[in-house]
Amino acid sequence: MENKYKQNILITGGAGFIGSHVVRLFVDKYPEYNIINLDALTYAGNLANLKDIENRPNYTFVKADICDFDSILKIFKDHNITGVIHLAAESHVDRSIKDPFTFARTNVMGTLSLLQTAKECWNSPYEGNCFYHISTDEVYGTLQFDGTFFTETTKYDPHSPYSASKAGSDHFVRAFYDTYGLPTIVTNCSNNYGPYQFPEKLIPLFINNIRHNKPLPVYGKGENVRDWLYVEDHARAIDLIYHKGKIADTYNIGGFNEWKNIDLIKVIIKTVDRLLNRPEGQSEKLITYVTDRAGHDLRYAIDSSKLKNELGWEPSLQFEEGIEKTVKWYLDNQEWMDNVTSGDYQEYYQKMYINR
Ligand code: NAD
Ligand code: DAU
Repeated sequence: MENKYKQNILITGGAGFIGSHVVRLFVDKYPEYNIINLDALTYAGNLANLKDIENRPNYTFVKADICDFDSILKIFKDHNITGVIHLAAESHVDRSIKDPFTFARTNVMGTLSLLQTAKECWNSPYEGNCFYHISTDEVYGTLQFDGTFFTETTKYDPHSPYSASKAGSDHFVRAFYDTYGLPTIVTNCSNNYGPYQFPEKLIPLFINNIRHNKPLPVYGKGENVRDWLYVEDHARAIDLIYHKGKIADTYNIGGFNEWKNIDLIKVIIKTVDRLLNRPEGQSEKLITYVTDRAGHDLRYAIDSSKLKNELGWEPSLQFEEGIEKTVKWYLDNQEWMDNVTSGDYQEYYQKMYINR
């Protein structure tokens, strides 16, 4: 298909949490690019996340499953796709413990189907093409409380079915560069937080539970550590790396912002209580220690100095500011939260896209 755009970029998983921020950034910042958002609209996909940009001329949504090779091939050809930013995945560790097959299917086979399509549609030496795969720090396994960090050369050591499936997909992406010369980039990022995150994940789940005076299920002793990054900072890093990153390279993305779960939870409680004009600390009584997550990694911490030194990226938001913005967003967007928790969002959009 001939068109007036400089690039036709396929963003997979664009109806999800991080994907919606990436789609919005690209649609806003690059009117000269044609952005095609491909998403299967699983329970985690919600087109309400993109309501503000859905009618832009340089934006198209396509409902498809990344595992459906024939459909993906057709979409590539129909839209003359020149670049891929691949975020579609099953992303929640607890679900992967209950249903590992779905994670292997989507994360490994789905990624493979996209890679194979790109290889068939693009011509060696692949001038101007890029297949950018978004991955996680969880592939590196776990750290102890010893001040060390994950770097780009840390050996893979995944422990959950989720991280094992993401590790598998990362290996396939690199194998496609090594074997076929497909121009690929992989990034491994730490925990994201911010608006539009599905409320199965710690931060939105706890904000919503505090609001409704529901128990806050803290796994184990609450001593596990995660490294938190505001989602728009991740999207900015993806933009930079897509344009300036070195083909075949890997970059770690993180906030140098480690929090023990229980300390983070207390910050969330304090912020929600203050914004709801409740007495300070009132909701601490909701903290409920529950059985630990199986195979729960103790500590994640990303060293993102390569990205800073080579491409000049740094997080723009201090954590205090980011968490304040995030809590406020969820409290101000109760309708979004209610639609997600009731399941209404799915019925609406699924109906809209059935048989298209
Ligand atoms: P998410 O669960 O919010 O969104 C995933 C999206 O993928 C959804 O819109 C869903 O509908 C779509 N999807 C799922 N299966 C699909 C399929 N078979 N075909 C097409 N679309 C499908 O996930 P997220 O938190 O936004 O994560 C996005 C990516 O970033 C994932 O690859 C994840 O591994 C990675 N990542 C996430 C984090 C984080 O903290 N959330 C951190 C590092 C890396
Ligand atoms: O590190 C990057 C990863 O971060 C991403 O690859 C994943 O897609 C993303 O889901 C996230 O994984 P986590 O397992 O770290 O996120 P989650 O929000 O599920 O949990 C954060 C921490 O809080 C973790 O140590 C488990 C704990 N937790 C979580 C939930 C949902 C609780 O104690 N109670 C809970 O109810």
